[in-house]
Amino acid sequence: MSKKFYITTPIYYVNARPHIGHTYTTIACDTVARRQRMLGADTFFLTGTDEHGQKIERAAQAAGKTPQQYADEISGEFRKLWKRMGISNDDFIRTTEERHKKRAQELFRRIRDNGYIYKGTYTGQYCVSDELYVDGAQPGDPCPSCGRITETVHEENYFFKLSAFQDKLLELYANPQFVRPETRRNEVISFVRSGLRDLSISRSTFSWGIPVPDDPKHVIYVWLDALANYITAIGYGSSHAGAQEAFKKYWPADVHMIGKEIVRFHCVYWPAFLLAAGLPLPKAIVAHGWLLFEESKMSKSRGNIVRTETILDVLGADALRYFLLREVVFGQDGSFSFDALVQRYNSDLANGLGNLASRTLTMINRYFKGEVPYPSHAAARTSSDDAISEIASKTITEFGTLFDQFQFSRALEATWGLVAAVDKYIVENEPWALGEKQDNESRARLATVLYTSAEALRIATALAHPVMPDATARIWEQMGLGDIQKFPLADLAWGQLRLGTKLGDIRPVFPRADKSAIERMQQMEDQQRGPVDEESKEAGSRHTMPATAKAPAVAVPSAAGVAVDGGKISIDDFSKVELRVGVVKVAERVPKSDKLLRLEIDIGTEVRQVVAGIAEAYAPEPLVGRKVVIVANLAPRKLRGLESNGMIVAASLEGGRPVLASFLEDVPVGARLK
Ligand code: MSP
Repeated sequence: MSKKFYITTPIYYVNARPHIGHTYTTIACDTVARRQRMLGADTFFLTGTDEHGQKIERAAQAAGKTPQQYADEISGEFRKLWKRMGISNDDFIRTTEERHKKRAQELFRRIRDNGYIYKGTYTGQYCVSDELYVDGAQPGDPCPSCGRITETVHEENYFFKLSAFQDKLLELYANPQFVRPETRRNEVISFVRSGLRDLSISRSTFSWGIPVPDDPKHVIYVWLDALANYITAIGYGSSHAGAQEAFKKYWPADVHMIGKEIVRFHCVYWPAFLLAAGLPLPKAIVAHGWLLFEESKMSKSRGNIVRTETILDVLGADALRYFLLREVVFGQDGSFSFDALVQRYNSDLANGLGNLASRTLTMINRYFKGEVPYPSHAAARTSSDDAISEIASKTITEFGTLFDQFQFSRALEATWGLVAAVDKYIVENEPWALGEKQDNESRARLATVLYTSAEALRIATALAHPVMPDATARIWEQMGLGDIQKFPLADLAWGQLRLGTKLGDIRPVFPRADKSAIERMQQMEDQQRGPVDEESKEAGSRHTMPATAKAPAVAVPSAAGVAVDGGKISIDDFSKVELRVGVVKVAERVPKSDKLLRLEIDIGTEVRQVVAGIAEAYAPEPLVGRKVVIVANLAPRKLRGLESNGMIVAASLEGGRPVLASFLEDVPVGARLK
């Protein structure tokens, strides 16, 4: 019987469209799943979307949609993107599906029946963006994870006896494979050692969630609901025999892959829930770092996301997959830039693997009529041939070891070491010169050189297949080897390339990208963020600043020429922003816009017209006479044909309404904020 392998991505929130941060985790899991399938494991790869909770409810409200409509739309975007990229997930779970709801309730019931749930009252701080209870925080305190101001929650809840699991959890972490990498494991250990408080696992002040069994006034806490996906998707809690079988077969998961910000939920809460339910625990939780863009974590609220589609349009999925896994040291944060992407693409793919494939196969075509030649054993053999076969054999072993430790970058580095060695070997052996000669010795030598090159190419291609499924499948076909997915990777060894194998049609796999590729991608992203999109334009106008990658922070008038030190700006930079107290004189709706208000604001020295995207949160009339803060030296821009001369400052709650900045004491109009 073949070994089973079950791997999961986090299920992504539907409050934001997919970007390359989500794509990164999905690509990493897809690569691992593909390698396992090639190794013969009965593999199940799960991804999906996390659709309940207050954050989604608010985001839907802000978009003027029902939460279900909203979730349908964004969940659809994730599925569409994964399909376009050829992601090989075996299922896609949505937490709003009936199968999930019923089975998650079953999990709740089981934990309750086992005596780990009790009713109580929670008063404390909550971060809606992270859906996190922040123990020990005071009203007004920021969330320790994302820095947003927490909200005070006072409500009747069900509590989970998390405190009962402290010792058992610490025992689990003794196994170094359970939480990886080591840095995350240490963090988790110190968090648990510092003491665990019982956890509220229901909410009763909103309704967008799964009702608590037998008490539908409560909905299940979104993290319990979400984590349950890993078992509900494969049949936990189902009465169908087939589903029960699947659960028995695939659970426990071999790998939960996650980003580092959700380690606590996966490494503390999730095992505790499973222990309470009497269920087996996952074998490993592997956390990677963040993809940074312009020095900070790529995220919707920072406005510095890069859309995956842009890269797919210009360079294709394989280029992105290779780049992310080669460039970023898995487990650590890594920067994304279009320049680095194109540079890697050209050096490693166009000039590296692509060039090796095309020059080797073209020469076999030219000198041996498209059939893999016979390598000579005797006189025409040199130590350089053996060196290549040795490097190739070593690479096979090294790649496996590194890959299984999730060291994708080093595994690829080893493989590209082989590619570089063969390149050098070809240059030194000059097969093109040998091809010009007709004597037997030259022919024998040429056959050996081309066989050696082709065999090394075959090995590099097989190893790289899980990382670049499409390009490697094409090289494999060009080599006349058929369907690469059927190749049993576990058997990969030097010397398997059969003599006389007839090559297929040879076409370039990685055409070189020129500078215009970078510009095109940048332009496509700018267009998405810029004035073309009326909706984002309006949304931008209600934020503290249209936070695009070009204008990353309030105090930075343009990205160029500003001294940024580790993401911080100097006081001089801040003082460039003129923030003033103003008073609203006139407020009215902008015709044909749901979001915009036209305001006339007296800032002491003059009255300014400002167009602000706050109409969904504020009616115009009560604003008249209200004191507000405005950015007075912002370049004017046009919204719906009206010039906006300055920007009103508001707290931008993710997915929620803007809240205007104001003062508790009386302040004079025109006063400067500094
Ligand atoms: N819904 C929860 C997860 C529940 S799992 C039971 C959630 N969703 S999320 O949409 O915020 O996705 C978070 C995950 O997306 C991260 O853990 C990571 O896997 C991936 N990433 C999102 N942005 C990322 C970066 N900028 N960089 C790297 N990964 C990123 O949390």
